[in-house]
Amino acid sequence: MRTFTKTPLAFTYDGRRVEGQDGDTVGSALHAAGVRIFSRSLQFHRPRGLFCVNGRCVSCAVRIDGHPHMRACTVRLESGMTVESEGGWPSMSFDVWRALDFFHFLFPPGFQYRFFIKPRWMFRIWERMLRQIAAHAAVPSPAEKHSSAPSYLKETADVVVVGGGAAGLAAASAACRQGLRVTLIDDNTDLGGGARRSPEALEDAAHEALALKTLTLHLDTRCFAYYGDGPVSAFRGNTLIEVTAKAVVIATGAYERPMIFGNNDLPGIFLSTGALRLLHRYGVRPGTHAVVAATTDDGIATAAALLDAGVHVEAVVDARMHGGAPSSQRLHERGIRILAGYRIEHARGLGRIRAVTVAPCDGHQTRAVHTLPCDVLVTCGGFQPANELCFQATSQGNFLMEGAGGWKSLAQGERQLAARDGTPLFVAGNAARIGSLAKARLEGRIAGLAAAAEIAGGGAALADELRRERAALAALAEPDRWEGESA
Ligand SMILES: Cc1cc2nc3c(=O)[nH]c(=O)nc-3n(C[C@H](O)[C@H](O)[C@H](O)COP(=O)(O)OP(=O)(O)OC[C@H]3O[C@@H](n4cnc5c(N)ncnc54)[C@H](O)[C@@H]3O)c2cc1C
Ligand code: FES
Repeated sequence: MRTFTKTPLAFTYDGRRVEGQDGDTVGSALHAAGVRIFSRSLQFHRPRGLFCVNGRCVSCAVRIDGHPHMRACTVRLESGMTVESEGGWPSMSFDVWRALDFFHFLFPPGFQYRFFIKPRWMFRIWERMLRQIAAHAAVPSPAEKHSSAPSYLKETADVVVVGGGAAGLAAASAACRQGLRVTLIDDNTDLGGGARRSPEALEDAAHEALALKTLTLHLDTRCFAYYGDGPVSAFRGNTLIEVTAKAVVIATGAYERPMIFGNNDLPGIFLSTGALRLLHRYGVRPGTHAVVAATTDDGIATAAALLDAGVHVEAVVDARMHGGAPSSQRLHERGIRILAGYRIEHARGLGRIRAVTVAPCDGHQTRAVHTLPCDVLVTCGGFQPANELCFQATSQGNFLMEGAGGWKSLAQGERQLAARDGTPLFVAGNAARIGSLAKARLEGRIAGLAAAAEIAGGGAALADELRRERAALAALAEPDRWEGESA
């Protein structure tokens, strides 16, 4: 299952001893140990497993050391941890309430609001019964609550950068070099964002930023609010962190879009970024027998990465009529079947995916419908900017989304907005528009420099540097995607 091994770490899952390894998250360790069902859906108890591997869904929610509903894929594994599944009776892997799913036609959406209120005296009884059935987490005991008392951290900075990917790192290091006090917030346990898969791409920015003494780093910290007239609010565990700054840079990257098809929530179905994260960061193969569903060249690159890691790729199901050629040619030469102009219609399996049914995109009757066996389906449905903090801060969503190539630039090169209270707000990298690593770094550097110019005025040297970076960004013949570059 593993492509590399490190020091083993032992922990317990539902009372049994499991072994992970140093650097794992609870999620990657459980997946490597063969656990596929992490949680159950609330109403029909459908099984859910790792999906985004990035803390963006709740498919992997478990109880860790008494703390309910923790996203297993974001919690770093420690020796001796006690991990328990939540919901499922008699067990998470065999849950009799799953039977509800087979009678789902009896429970139309919203039926509970009409059915469980009559007769009125029955309401309390229904309520207790539904609480028992719903696959929910148990509230921590008073002792557990006491062991994790909340704390509050209030900070000030010249610039706060949200997101420690290529763009955020470039922004932070550019602003630090101008002598500004910078706070960098990222919800991962290490820096690099999406560029972690190519460490050399990060070298300069990460090392430079970390070496600078004016940088305050908050890792494993999620920024959840910036309303444009107050501090940037984030949390790490039970600690609330509020940072008040003179300028804000949003570099939160992008979300990968899930694909729509029947049974698309079965364990074993992954977003491509999730499958690659498991593989590259934790050395865990998502499965042994994969089908890759593609709509862009990311799918081709993902299939190549899975093959290189020793995963058997049954086929690439590419919605494009050209099937990703010429990029897919190399896969074809390696014996991989490319089904061009096809889409996933249905995933099959009970507790985990066993096969997929694929059908022609155009509904062409003469082209065959195939059933492909697999234990993992990796979907690459494209990306969309993670820009909700900008919406919060400016309440200008319509304006921000305008324009053919994405957002409107207020100044040439950088994407500068103003928060409700007038604080300069910069957006850089994929959070502004999906693009390449080179674009993300340039935009990040420009955002950092522009923030410095806003705050400190800046001299001729800063103005010169900014002009050079803007010219470089303008000269970057940027395709909408990063096609042609090696992944
Ligand atoms: C599979 C794949 C292959 C690629 N191949 C190439 C390639 O070959 N060549 C190329 O040029 N580019 C490639 N790219 C694109 C490149 O990786 C991205 O353009 C670049 O990483 C974008 O950087 P970013 O800083 O904008 O976003 P990201 O790198 O995504 O960084 C955003 C960071 O912000 C954090 N974050 C998000 N929201 C919050 C929040 N609310 N609070 C705290 N932190 C938050 C995220 O966890 C993340 O660490 C590829 C991307 C993918 C996914
Ligand atoms: S949050 Fe863990 S898999 Fe999505």
